[in-house]
Amino acid sequence: MAEPGSQPPPPAPGEPAWHHTAVVYEIYLRSFADGNGDGVGDIAGVRSRLPYLRDLGVDAIWLTPWYRSPMADGGYDVADYRDIDPLFGTLVDAEALIAEAHELGLRIIIDVVPNHCSYQHPWFAAALAAGPGSAERTRFWFRPGRGDAGELPPNDWRSMFGGPAWTRVTEPDGSPGEWYLHLYAAEQPDLNWDNPGVRAEFEDILRFWLDRGVDGFRIDVADFLVKDPALPDAAGLPPGVRRPWEDQDGLHELYRTWRRLIDSYPGDRVFIGELWISPLTRLRPYLLGDQLHTAFNFGFLTAPWQPGALRDVIDTTLGSIGAEAPWVLSNHDVTRHVTRYGRAETARVWMATEQVATNLTLGTRRARAALLLSLALPGSSYLYQGEELGLWEVEDIPDDLIADPIYERTNHLVRGRDGCRVPLPWRAAAPGFGFGPPAGTTPWLPQPADWRRLAADAQAADSDSMLALYRAALRARKARNGLADDTMTWLDSADGVLAFSRAGGFVCVVSLASEPVPLPPHEELVLASGPLDGQLLPPDTAVWLHTGSG
Ligand code: NOJ
Repeated sequence: MAEPGSQPPPPAPGEPAWHHTAVVYEIYLRSFADGNGDGVGDIAGVRSRLPYLRDLGVDAIWLTPWYRSPMADGGYDVADYRDIDPLFGTLVDAEALIAEAHELGLRIIIDVVPNHCSYQHPWFAAALAAGPGSAERTRFWFRPGRGDAGELPPNDWRSMFGGPAWTRVTEPDGSPGEWYLHLYAAEQPDLNWDNPGVRAEFEDILRFWLDRGVDGFRIDVADFLVKDPALPDAAGLPPGVRRPWEDQDGLHELYRTWRRLIDSYPGDRVFIGELWISPLTRLRPYLLGDQLHTAFNFGFLTAPWQPGALRDVIDTTLGSIGAEAPWVLSNHDVTRHVTRYGRAETARVWMATEQVATNLTLGTRRARAALLLSLALPGSSYLYQGEELGLWEVEDIPDDLIADPIYERTNHLVRGRDGCRVPLPWRAAAPGFGFGPPAGTTPWLPQPADWRRLAADAQAADSDSMLALYRAALRARKARNGLADDTMTWLDSADGVLAFSRAGGFVCVVSLASEPVPLPPHEELVLASGPLDGQLLPPDTAVWLHTGSG
């Protein structure tokens, strides 16, 4: 095993833990940078871009799954949790990446996918071969079907990707057999977390990666692992009532065990949970200090671009959860926020069945303001690759190139999430915009020609670019120690304006008003998301000010 490099230093006494104020950059591995020229992003590509991430000013990287996988869901279908898929590199490459990131002071969070594995995982093959009633099948959710001949699924649950959540297998003797549960694609059988062997295996997997120096895990669908064992029908449940596969009480004991495990390692390693539960306050029990360290704030991501809604979600977060729910605007599953914020319905985060018009100029202006808002709030933030370049959702990917399993599972009704996963443009003048090595490569999804002007090298030279704003904002935030203090105070402001102060005389003002509004008195303009109109703040613009008080 390679030396993982030393973990970045622990906080000084009295300082908050690193994850409390960290800015974490999500790398969707397939689409970040391609080191070997096969058109797919890989570990070599990430290694070559580590200096870019350091210069951007982030504290940590979250990498989407790199494990061996048949890629039915872009790697969220894992066949071997202890090895790297050859598409992405080798275990030696992964160890080198961890060490190099640590040398640059960047922490590494990896994805762990415990709700389901791949149908090509040896456990699933063994379960199919062993037949009904076998110990091998108890690692999954195999059940006889309903109907006279078992021809109907065991219950009415639907896959998150469309269609039934059950698939019937053919038994080893050739007869139509049991059904197995998959809350996602059929290639992603759900694991049964009531089985002690499943628990032991994942504890071992966590140790395997902690021993290699990772600084934490993003837990995929952290709210789905435990199911109501009665597997009751769910269609009749009113909205807002917990589904029998989500947010079950048994999850807390599971995460307490994981927390004890991770705490036994030195170096402030962390869990970040992916839990799409609402209301947001349902995150609270997971974040009491004995389970997860943090969980994504999807309430913020899904909030419309409206002052009241934003203020509500900020108040709910800080009042009922605390700063442990990192602010997040985009990720690899939702419509990029430049596109969202350019629409009439700014809260629409999921792929639509039809295209919805967007104004990218407006969306970009709002995205710039949203960045200053999110980075000024108490707590940590997660950025999604390419948002620092102002990339928009690509909505015209040719049908035959769509790779997201959602497309097939919805009979081509929903095009899926590929539009936010288009490979990044690095160099304006290079083939494939420099996604691959200099000799060029054809990226696995086509990039819009207009991304030439959004390429990282083009923006690096432009002080008004989105990239320049991200760099300046992260620098200014770091200069204030990540705005480490947890308190913020709302300031009186005009209608449509959000204004709040933080310790040390720092003030953030975001205008969602339709007319320019006066800036509050200040000593220094630290940063503006766009041009000001003298002492007036134009609509959809944000500023950071230093007021000299506090
Ligand atoms: C959430 C991941 O972010 C998404 O990309 C994936 O498809 C599902 N979980 C299933 O693993």
